[in-house]
Amino acid sequence: MKIIMLGAPGAGKGTQAQMIAGQYHIPHVSTGDIFRANIKNGTELGMEAKKYMDQGLLVPDELTVKILLDRVAEEDCKDGYLLDGFPRTIPQAEVLDKALAELGDAIDYAINVDVPDENIVKRMSGRRACLSCGSTYHMEHIPPKKEGVCDKCGNDLVLRDDDKPETVLNRLEVYHKQTQPLIQFYEEKGVLKTVDGTKPMKEVFDSIVEILEK
Ligand code: AP5
Ligand code: MG
Repeated sequence: MKIIMLGAPGAGKGTQAQMIAGQYHIPHVSTGDIFRANIKNGTELGMEAKKYMDQGLLVPDELTVKILLDRVAEEDCKDGYLLDGFPRTIPQAEVLDKALAELGDAIDYAINVDVPDENIVKRMSGRRACLSCGSTYHMEHIPPKKEGVCDKCGNDLVLRDDDKPETVLNRLEVYHKQTQPLIQFYEEKGVLKTVDGTKPMKEVFDSIVEILEK
């Protein structure tokens, strides 16, 4: 099964992706997590990506596409994967489509987690992220067992650099301009499914499972 998570920044793509990947035993591939891990490790890619991420802009397609195609070519992705944060532009979607078509394959579902902009800024300021394993928490909705510590791997939780309110507004603008057109792109391919992301996370998850098991 090959799934794409679509949705605005903060819509809950990562939260749902973690749960779906756990339930269906497929790798959760997040380009944002890959970039953040590279920034944390001080790699050249990380330094380049950070310039864009800190402003709420997209990392150029040339950098992003190669990383993603290399990642999904790894052994653990051979029976399927869940993409979180990729594709984010029509050219990225076209490259992915072409790479899959060459393997006689295609995306099975594009799940659009729909949350209006008003809800987003509030969510982001409460978010805490683990830069080691990519787990996401929310101080009110999904607190970790021990404050500031990741339940899964024990590393520190941080407020992401790009979660400052002014950067979040930029990310939302970029989303509407560059990423939202993907909704129509996948609708035309007949694989788009939209869920109401304003519901509690367990309800959102149940509606995704219902789609995947139909
Ligand atoms: P990325 O890491 O992908 O960030 P994003 O898309 O902006 O999305 P977020 O991770 O901020 O939100 P999310 O939808 O995963 O929400 P979450 O589950 O955490 O990308 C970061 C940057 O990297 C980009 O800006 C760009 O620069 C670059 N980049 C990445 N991929 C790229 C690409 N393909 N091309 C170019 N550049 C790329 O949830 C948010 C909060 O809400 C959490 O605290 C969570 O606990 C809480 N929450 C979740 N669900 C619920 C719920 N149902 N009710 C209440 N709270 C909830
Ligand atoms: Mg995320």
